[in-house]
Amino acid sequence: MCGIVGYIGAKEAYPIIIKGLKRLEYRGYDSAGLALFNGEKFISSKTKGKVSDLELRAEAEGTLKGSMGIGHTRWATHGVPNDVNSHPHFSNSGELVIIHNGIIENYEPLKQELIKRGYTFKSDTDTEVLVNLIEDVQKTNNLKLGKAVQVALNQVIGAYAICVMDIKKPNEIVAARLGSPLAIGVGDGEYFVASDASPFIEYTNNAIYLEDEEMAIIRLHKPIKIRKIKDDELVSPYVQELQLNLEQIEKGGYEHFMLKEIHEQPAVIKDTFRGRLLSDKGLIKMAGIEDNLQKFTNAKRIIVVACGTSWHAGLVGEYMIEEFARIPVEVEYASEFRYRNPIINEDDVVIAISQSGETADTLAAIKLAKEKGAFVFGVCNVVGSSISRETHAGAYTHAGPEIGVASTKAFTTQITVLALIALRLAEAKGTMSKSEYLRNLLELELIPEKVEEALKEDANIIKIAEIYKDSTNCLYLGRGFNYPVALEGALKLKEISYIHAEGYPAAEMKHGPIALIDEQMPVIVIAPNQNHYDKVVSNIQEIKARSGKIIAVVSKGDTQVKALADHIIEMPESTEALTSIIATIPLQLLSYHIAVMRECNVDQPRNLAKSVTVE
Ligand code: F6R
Repeated sequence: MCGIVGYIGAKEAYPIIIKGLKRLEYRGYDSAGLALFNGEKFISSKTKGKVSDLELRAEAEGTLKGSMGIGHTRWATHGVPNDVNSHPHFSNSGELVIIHNGIIENYEPLKQELIKRGYTFKSDTDTEVLVNLIEDVQKTNNLKLGKAVQVALNQVIGAYAICVMDIKKPNEIVAARLGSPLAIGVGDGEYFVASDASPFIEYTNNAIYLEDEEMAIIRLHKPIKIRKIKDDELVSPYVQELQLNLEQIEKGGYEHFMLKEIHEQPAVIKDTFRGRLLSDKGLIKMAGIEDNLQKFTNAKRIIVVACGTSWHAGLVGEYMIEEFARIPVEVEYASEFRYRNPIINEDDVVIAISQSGETADTLAAIKLAKEKGAFVFGVCNVVGSSISRETHAGAYTHAGPEIGVASTKAFTTQITVLALIALRLAEAKGTMSKSEYLRNLLELELIPEKVEEALKEDANIIKIAEIYKDSTNCLYLGRGFNYPVALEGALKLKEISYIHAEGYPAAEMKHGPIALIDEQMPVIVIAPNQNHYDKVVSNIQEIKARSGKIIAVVSKGDTQVKALADHIIEMPESTEALTSIIATIPLQLLSYHIAVMRECNVDQPRNLAKSVTVE
C-alpha cells in the first residue's frame, strides 16, 4: 500500500514524480503529496484526494521547480486521509523530509520518547515519528543522513520503504526497505526510486531492487552505495535489465485498465502455458515443478495460502489437484494461517498464490511454513517480487502488469498455472487415465480462443447490467469448480460497484440465503451443461418459485435453463475443471459494466489498494 517515487538528476523532478505517482496510484489513492528541492529550500504540496488533486494544488502553490524530489500516494493506515496526514512529512527543524510506505508498529513509544525530548507532531502518522527519530539521532550524534537513517531504522519495528532528503545534502536521497518493495532506476546521470519500476520505465531499463533490510545512499554523479541496515555490511548493487515496456502499463485505447485486462486474457493465458504445455508430446514442463517433483508426489498434503482473489484461485486449485492428482489440499486465508499455530509437517508442500507477490499476510504465512520445514512453492505474477524470492521454487503466471485494482487476468492465469500443476502431478502419480489427461491438455490449449468467444457476449451483458445496475444485493451460485467462480464473481461486484453480493455453493442456498430471495434479488447462477447440471436446474427452480431474478451463465445452445432463466449468458464448454476459467469472464464483464453505469471508479475502488503490504 502507498506508492513512493523519488528523482535526482538534471531533469525537472515535478513531471516525473506526478506521472510516476499516477502509475503507482493503484497502490493507494486517498491522498498524495510531494516535496522538491528548488536549489535553495524544500517546497512541498500535499492534499487529501488523488494525484490529479495534488497536481491542481501544486500548480496553485507553485510547487513545480527542482531537480530532486520525492512523492507519495497514500493508502491510510495511521490517521485518516486528510491534508495533514498526507506525505511527505518534515522533521521539526524542517531540514529532513520523508515519504514512507509501510507501518512503524512501535511508533507510539518512540513518539512518547520524542515528545519528552521536546518534539512536537502535526499529524497522527507513524511516519512523522520516524522522520523526527532520524533527526533526533542525527543531531544527538552529529551524523550524516545515511548513518542517522540507519541508526533510527535499527530502533524501528514494522515495515517500510522510505526515501529521505536532507536540506544539508541537496544531492542525495537515502532509501531503505523492509517488507515493502523498492526499486532504484539507474539512468544516465540520474536516479529514480519507486515502489515498482513503472514510474521510470521510459527513462531507463536498468534497475536495482533493494532487498529487505537494505538501504541505499543515492548521490548525483556517484555510484550507489548499498548497505545492510543491521550489520552495516556493504552490498554490491546488482543492476537488472527490465522486461517491462511502456505499452504494458498504459490503457491501450480502453476506457479502463480493468477492461483492458479483461480483454487481455486470451493472450495472457496463452503466455502462461507457452513453453510449458506441449500437447503434441503429451507433456507439461515447468522448471519449478520438475526440479521438485518428488517433493510434490511424496507430499501427504498440499496447503494453499493466499488472500482475496488469489484465495479463490486456490480453491479452484484444490478441486483440480484433489480430482486429478489425488493429493489432499487445504486452502487457507494467509491472514488466519499465520496466526493460528497451524499444523505443518516437513512433508507438506505449501503453495503460496499472489498476484503482486507483496501481500504481507501471504509473505508471513510463507515464512512460518518455511520455519516449520515445509517446502514452499510460489505462484506469483510480479517477477522479482518479495514472495517470488522468499519461496523455495515457483511458477510465474506471466499475466503482465495488472493495474486495475480489481483482479481479473491474474485470477484466470493463476487457475491456468494450477491446472498445469495438477495435470503434471496427475501424470507423475498415474492418478488420471491417459485419455483424460490428454483431453485436458488439448482443452487447456483451446482456453484462449474459448475465452475470446466468451468475451463476445459483451453486448448482451451490457443489457443485463442496465437492468440490474440499481440492485442493492446480489447472489452468486455455482457448484463444484464453479463454486469458487461464484465467490470471485461476488467479490468483483462488491469491490467495484459497492453492491452487496454473496457467493455460495448452489446447494447451500436452501440452508439460509434462500430467505433473501424475492422479486428484487438478482441471482447469478453458473450452470454449464456438466456433471451437476440437473442439480443446478433444481436450484434454479427453487429461485424461480420465490420470484428471484435469474441470470444464468450457460453452455452454448442450452435450452433447459434458458426456459427458466430471466436472462442467459452463453459460453463455450470445456472440461468441468477448465470451464471455471471461461465462466469467470461474463462475471468480470457484468461487474465492470454495472460499476461503470453506477459511475464508480472502476480502476480505483474506494478504500482498496492493489498491493496489501500491511497486515
Ligand atoms: C480482488 C483483489 C484482492 C487481491 C488480494 C491478494 O480483486 O485484487 O482480493 O486478490 O489482495 O493480492 P495478491 O494476489 O497480490 O496477493
